[in-house]
Amino acid sequence: MNPYLYYTPALPLLMCLLLFSSGLSQLLYNTDDNVEQLDFASFETGLSEPTRGKLVKFFNGFCKDSQDFMPAFRKLSRKLYKWKRILKVHVFDCSKDENHEICRSFIIRSTPTLRYFPMAYRRDPEDLGTEISSRKVKEIESELALYLAELKYFKLFSREDNVTDIFRDYEHVKYIAMVFQMCLFNFMPHFETGNSMEEKQASLDNCNKDNPIVAAIGRNTLLELLPYNQIAVRVFDDHHVYAKFNVSPVPNLIVVLNRKLKPLFLTPEVDTSEAYVAAVRQFLEFNDLKAHKPLQKTQPTNISEALRYEILKQIKKQPQRIYRADLERAVDQILNLELPKTSNFVGKRLKVVNNFLRLMYNSNPLRPEAKGMLNHLYNSMKIKSRVSGVGFRELVIKALKNYTFEGKNYIGCIASRPHLRDFNCSLWTLFHYLTVESKSLNAGSVVQLLKDYVKFFMYCNDCQNHLQEFEKRRPLSDVIEHDQEILWLWQAHNYVNKQLAGASTEDPEFPKIQFPSERDCPSCRDKRSKWRTGEVLKYLKSIYALKNLSWFGMATCNTYI
Ligand SMILES: Cc1cc2nc3c(=O)[nH]c(=O)nc-3n(C[C@H](O)[C@H](O)[C@H](O)COP(=O)(O)OP(=O)(O)OC[C@H]3O[C@@H](n4cnc5c(N)ncnc54)[C@H](O)[C@@H]3O)c2cc1C
Ligand SMILES: *[C@@H]1O[C@H](CO)[C@@H](O)[C@H](O)[C@H]1NC(C)=O
Ligand SMILES: *[C@@H]1O[C@H](CO)[C@@H](O)[C@H](O)[C@H]1NC(C)=O
Ligand SMILES: *[C@@H]1O[C@H](CO)[C@@H](O)[C@H](O)[C@H]1NC(C)=O
Ligand SMILES: *[C@@H]1O[C@H](CO)[C@@H](O)[C@H](O)[C@H]1NC(C)=O
Ligand SMILES: *[C@@H]1O[C@H](CO)[C@@H](O)[C@H](O)[C@H]1NC(C)=O
Repeated sequence: MNPYLYYTPALPLLMCLLLFSSGLSQLLYNTDDNVEQLDFASFETGLSEPTRGKLVKFFNGFCKDSQDFMPAFRKLSRKLYKWKRILKVHVFDCSKDENHEICRSFIIRSTPTLRYFPMAYRRDPEDLGTEISSRKVKEIESELALYLAELKYFKLFSREDNVTDIFRDYEHVKYIAMVFQMCLFNFMPHFETGNSMEEKQASLDNCNKDNPIVAAIGRNTLLELLPYNQIAVRVFDDHHVYAKFNVSPVPNLIVVLNRKLKPLFLTPEVDTSEAYVAAVRQFLEFNDLKAHKPLQKTQPTNISEALRYEILKQIKKQPQRIYRADLERAVDQILNLELPKTSNFVGKRLKVVNNFLRLMYNSNPLRPEAKGMLNHLYNSMKIKSRVSGVGFRELVIKALKNYTFEGKNYIGCIASRPHLRDFNCSLWTLFHYLTVESKSLNAGSVVQLLKDYVKFFMYCNDCQNHLQEFEKRRPLSDVIEHDQEILWLWQAHNYVNKQLAGASTEDPEFPKIQFPSERDCPSCRDKRSKWRTGEVLKYLKSIYALKNLSWFGMATCNTYI
């Protein structure tokens, strides 16, 4: 027995997810990789946390650029674990509808985007974080080191500062190590405490405005000792500070203070941060103080499995939504696969295809930029009296060559195993969408088109028969208003659902129901469970409305502004 199954409140959901992902669920981001995911509700509080800087990756797991960056980012976040005392690593998922507003207001032009935010960040249109453009782990790390050096922990200890107060910001720390970091401004030839040349690369503003070149030995020592919770490093560049410990300036000297402010002196062998860190580490280990535990090993993410898990989580958790990705899948497959199966378009078939294209152009279920291209396709077909399947495909490729179908996965139409749902589900979805969004056409033309499509291009006699059976009960000639057409298709679909419920083509995870469910639309049925068609109509119009389509699952990398 698996005890894990028994204390979760969302048992049915979890079991379902486990069933789907055959074994342990794969997550896109794992807290054990030193990554914490924020969402629209936790974003501001997460960034306002007062003790650490934040690295945030804005991403869309369906976008290829985001996917390509995932392994490197995982390596980075694990590496940054050593700095966890002063830096938190977050991810924020721009693919989720409820997160769009934040991605928009933070002007995320494309995903992935990396931004650094200072501690206690407050939303400010003038400061939306500092963008880090590099995608190389080493470069990102050194850029972060520069930003982190702005945190209060790096503030130089000056000759005016009181040693008595030195532990004030370091409640749980046993020792403070004082490291001298030369500022070239203070450099005096007779004063021999020079830091080694290699540590003189970094530039720190605190040195001096006229001469901002400063050694980085203090900063680097501080950063490298962060895994030791028991010690903090304070940096000073003023040799008068030595006097506070009653010593005179000498090379290679680290002063370590305990909480009683008693100084101890360490003497690294050379003036490099490596040697400094080694000396302090030796001291700590001698006192039996250890670095925090390293991160445990984790498995790299299998992105396609993790996305499946994300999709299922999303659609099971949310009330019924209609996904743009499914509409794109449907149109993509119809234009590029289903229709080109026909060897010749002539007569009625040609007319049906042209009607389909006109409807596509009219109620564009694709992204707005496709409209002109669909019109172009319609116009180039309209003038022909005969087109071969291959010829049609060429016209499609030519007309849509500037359009990338960004629905790469079925979302609302995801199946629990192969050969279920997918295209057939998206076909229904597309036609419901068309009934709702084709107000300017004659009532009944969408349903007529569906009938024709099924007849000429679906190669499924049962499907055609089901529609005909239903039409006997509800003649299409009754459809004279736009709203009646929406309801006609809804009823026809429910009729088919009823015939297919329990059949082998039913996905057990998505049983055929009389749509919509009680849960999704409580007002759609009256007390005696009879349909209230006015409410159903309102419901269908709202979920299938263009404006309410969900962007979740689109491989869009750059539309958050
Ligand atoms: C005209 C037609 C006839 C078909 N006949 C057969 C057949 O004889 N045998 C066969 O095996 N398959 C048939 N199919 C395919 C079958 O209907 C399903 O599309 C397929 O089994 C996948 O089912 P699904 O669970 O994904 O949901 P689907 O029935 O495909 O529904 C897709 C989505 O539409 C929404 N929806 C469901 N019901 C309604 C409704 N009443 N109103 C509005 N939205 C709704 C839901 O969000 C659902 O997920 C037919 C398809 C069509 C278009
Ligand atoms: C240091 O302490 C003295 C005496 O307690 C005080 O007068 C002085 O203001 C303090 N200086 C700083 C910089 O806090
Ligand atoms: C990811 O998982 C899928 C499905 O389980 C599998 O087919 C694929 O090979 C895996 N990919 C990698 C890189 O492991
Ligand atoms: C595709 O885009 C290019 C460049 O933006 C443009 O010149 C061309 O006309 C477009 N083609 C079509 C078919 O829209
Ligand atoms: C759609 O459903 C029909 C009827 O069950 C079936 O023959 C066909 O294979 C399905 N098509 C796809 C792409 O799943
Ligand atoms: C979108 O959905 C909301 C509620 O989910 C609804 O109030 C609104 O009217 C819908 N928009 C359109 C254009 O139908």
